[in-house]
Amino acid sequence: MTIEAARSVPRVLDLERTRGPFADARTLPGAVYTSGEVLQLEQRGLFAREWLCVGREVDIPAAGDYFLKEIAGDSIIVLRGADGAVRAFYNVCRHRGSRLLDEPRGRGLARVLCPYHSWSYHLDGSLQNAPRMDEGFCKAEFGLVPVRIGVHEGFIFVNLDDGAQPLERYLADLPDLARFRMPELVCGRRIEYDVAANWKLICENYSECYHCAGAHPQLARISEQISRGERGQEIGACFNGGPMRLREGVETMSMSGRSTLPTIPGLSLDDCRYVHYYVIYPNMLLSPHPDYVLVHTAWPVTPERTHVVCEWLFTAAAVGAPDFDPSDVVQFWDTTNRQDWALCERAQAGVRSRGFRPGPYQSSEDCVHIFDRWYADRLAELL
Ligand code: FES
Ligand SMILES: [Fe+2]
Repeated sequence: MTIEAARSVPRVLDLERTRGPFADARTLPGAVYTSGEVLQLEQRGLFAREWLCVGREVDIPAAGDYFLKEIAGDSIIVLRGADGAVRAFYNVCRHRGSRLLDEPRGRGLARVLCPYHSWSYHLDGSLQNAPRMDEGFCKAEFGLVPVRIGVHEGFIFVNLDDGAQPLERYLADLPDLARFRMPELVCGRRIEYDVAANWKLICENYSECYHCAGAHPQLARISEQISRGERGQEIGACFNGGPMRLREGVETMSMSGRSTLPTIPGLSLDDCRYVHYYVIYPNMLLSPHPDYVLVHTAWPVTPERTHVVCEWLFTAAAVGAPDFDPSDVVQFWDTTNRQDWALCERAQAGVRSRGFRPGPYQSSEDCVHIFDRWYADRLAELL
């Protein structure tokens, strides 16, 4: 790293106020939102080492269905095999390294064919054919390089670090959300956003509703924050989160406050009164509602740009109905998302200023502090 570059990386000391007790804590230093060197550290030390949610099993239901995901500069193929198993591989040919697949998603591939010299791979990653290679060439040695993969509640996670703990252990203390039947839910709408803000600002913004009264009138009208004593805090090694209560007479988070879609079967009355919000580190935002599950993933593009993928997951009965119309809930969260991105972009404009000084947390921003502390601890290890 050049001296110039090193100057833009915050010193460990700069993180200490964030890592300290809540009452005296300060938000993260501005450089973590703007520095290319910090993003490189994050890509190497976080995104290439943590479990990341890349999609869902139902996205690739049949043999040969696949999607690509860009992680820390690497293209990854997530592919269902002829045996039904979902696997992940680097999108790199074992001959001379050509990129294999270009289309971001596809259905029913019979094999993976390299466009360069036509090596082909079975759906389990093993080398099928390598035209005119010399005798003695051992096909078994040249299968696609696998990437670690795991599935939790229907969500596919990958991890580029072969030494990482198993997914089950990473997510061990996540609350049990089986009652939301997420593996069965179907994506009814997907919107991707390009946000001119650092990915952490998006996670922080999701972690508090201090801004809701002013920024989201449509949200504040139908749901309310609950006092911290009312419910146990939900914090674990891999996540933090908490519930918000729907106001009296409100059925779900939608423009009308009414639910026009079937409730997820089997939920308790209590589950129908609360919406839960979880940040699963580093970049997954999971929000179960009574009649749908909202999930965001936030992917850094540059220090000051983030690609956000947002999906609305509904029951199969809802999506399969001839009159399926999710617009009430899609419009609600799309509006809220855009209000949030505008706030994040305002914050980005400020944190890059010479005039920015890390500020204090308000009492309802405890989850922002928990996220920032998690991040600051990781970054301190990498510096
Ligand atoms: S690089 Fe793929 S076949 Fe040569
Ligand atoms: Fe918001």
